[in-house]
Amino acid sequence: DWAMPGFIEEQVEAIRKQVGDKHVILGLSGGVDSSVAAALLHKAIGKQLTCVFVDHGLLRLGEAEQVMETFARHLGVNVIHVDATQDFMGKLAGVTDPEAKRKIIGKEFVEVFQREAGKIENARWLAQGTIYPDVIESAGAKTGKAKTIKSHHNVGGLPETLNLKLLEPLRDLFKDEVRKLGIALGLPHDMVYRHPFPGPGLGVRILGEVKQEFADLLRRADHIFTSELRNTRASVQDVAAGLATQEQVGNTWYELTSQAFAVFLPVKSVGVMGDGRTYEYVVALRAVQTQDFMTAHWAHLPHELLGRLSNRIINEVRGVNRVVYDISGKPPATIEWE
Ligand code: XMP
Repeated sequence: DWAMPGFIEEQVEAIRKQVGDKHVILGLSGGVDSSVAAALLHKAIGKQLTCVFVDHGLLRLGEAEQVMETFARHLGVNVIHVDATQDFMGKLAGVTDPEAKRKIIGKEFVEVFQREAGKIENARWLAQGTIYPDVIESAGAKTGKAKTIKSHHNVGGLPETLNLKLLEPLRDLFKDEVRKLGIALGLPHDMVYRHPFPGPGLGVRILGEVKQEFADLLRRADHIFTSELRNTRASVQDVAAGLATQEQVGNTWYELTSQAFAVFLPVKSVGVMGDGRTYEYVVALRAVQTQDFMTAHWAHLPHELLGRLSNRIINEVRGVNRVVYDISGKPPATIEWE
């Protein structure tokens, strides 16, 4: 039985004891785990914590601003915001292979992080938002049980060159416990209940070569998609159509999906606008329902919602004249397109 107030007090006490008067560095990604770890550490040690937020330019629309707003302005956490967009774009130029892109993003991320972390004086600890399932997963990887289908990059493998000790205050918690903790620590609901977002970000959602122009386009399409999902609730009509259960009526489609995002396809197709012919890019929408992300079903979204999404994206995002919906399950497809 898990009691929140007791847990927070205990953890705060334990962190203070462990850290003493030394300084702690944490890589903030905007994701749930690192955010909750930051909020917990901030509560425990305040200004002895410095977060490094590496913005690779492949985040969602407004995400960097939201992270800075929440942590720096609202909670008063020390956050170093590094806008490394140009470095990442430069390194990614001309690269089309998905795994090569992941490796470049991961490597650059570590380099930028280390550069910034190296500037922080008196630092002894590196905090990470490792949660219990990560602990299990990496134990599996060590014994060779877990097969790497994609080289998932998290902020792992950092401490060696920095000579820091690892601090992992969430390592006994499951995801739902981490979320409850985040709410109890005062983090915004939207941040705590956000769909998972891969470390390489939009880098693996722009198929083939990553370009700034594509990232900007994709961000806008993705934002329309997720905003519509957040603003559309399952209705009794959806129940009649077999898309939702009675109990789900009133929930948003964002809540009723496990992950939903737009994908940029570097393919042009012909369209017609007014009395002219267009020749522009395609955006694919992907929404899945899953318990564990190992297998997943494509989400049966209401047709009206899909129609509205297509209209809005084509009307509002210049450079797109066609929207398609991904109806592939996992397996055989993966959730991400790369
Ligand atoms: P796939 O595409 O393998 O995705 O079905 C399963 C889950 O993992 C996420 N994912 C990643 N997360 N780095 C990450 O941190 C990655 O390189 C990566 N690739 C996939 C994906 O978003 C989904 O939640």
